[in-house]
Amino acid sequence: MRRFLIAGNWKMNTTRQSAVALAGELATAGSNYEAGVEILVCPPYPYLIPVAEKLSGSAVQLGAQDVYFEAPGAFTGEVAVEMLKDCRCRFVILGHSERRHVLGESDEIINRKLRAAISGGLQVVLCVGELLSERQAGQTEEVLDRQMQGGLSGVAEADAANVVIAYEPVWAIGTGVTATPEQAESAHEHLRNWLATRYTPGFSENVLILYGGSVKADNAESLLGQANVDGALVGGASLKSSTFVPIIEAARKLSART
Ligand code: PGA
Repeated sequence: MRRFLIAGNWKMNTTRQSAVALAGELATAGSNYEAGVEILVCPPYPYLIPVAEKLSGSAVQLGAQDVYFEAPGAFTGEVAVEMLKDCRCRFVILGHSERRHVLGESDEIINRKLRAAISGGLQVVLCVGELLSERQAGQTEEVLDRQMQGGLSGVAEADAANVVIAYEPVWAIGTGVTATPEQAESAHEHLRNWLATRYTPGFSENVLILYGGSVKADNAESLLGQANVDGALVGGASLKSSTFVPIIEAARKLSART
């Protein structure tokens, strides 16, 4: 039985004060969800340390939104894996569509980051997802295959055990348009089959595959209720506990049922 993971991607939002306040609220709420539902928050780099301090001793885990693949050195503006570990991060999000499409990251760069993160002891949330034009052209599965192949190139099964996949159709991110539960399930099933072929069926059964793209309290239960949807990567609705906690609550209800 896979657990649920509900992850908040705060993107380039919050202030130090609002980040710490939100972390405090989630740390309190998180104490109710230890069985079957994991919670993760990914604040901007400058707020990792104050948020880590606020989350200390709570069930809420900390992640970053990106990392660089090189060891510390002359890479102005970049942040190394060991620095994230030093800030108590356990996870890092890689391959988010904003990094791919706004910052121009290739599958090759994402793969280098992923391998560096895993070998440095971080868990990776690897985001994949098609553009609207690609969906309309019937290329969704081809795009997912390419991004999975590129992102996990050279990654053995033992290392891939540190990867969570997030299916995030680009047309659903921050738009208020959500994939239907059927569209999400079809993509997730495809991703799980891809993992079964690339690795082994037993391995693929244990991989968490999150859905992301306009997840909110009112659509969380129907999305999380799909057989291959193991959690959510939440942007906008993760910025307030009043909108994030109900999504965690939807997962808790479903995990109590199964
Ligand atoms: P959204 O973002 O929930 O605001 O659509 C999701 C994401 O980009 O991870």
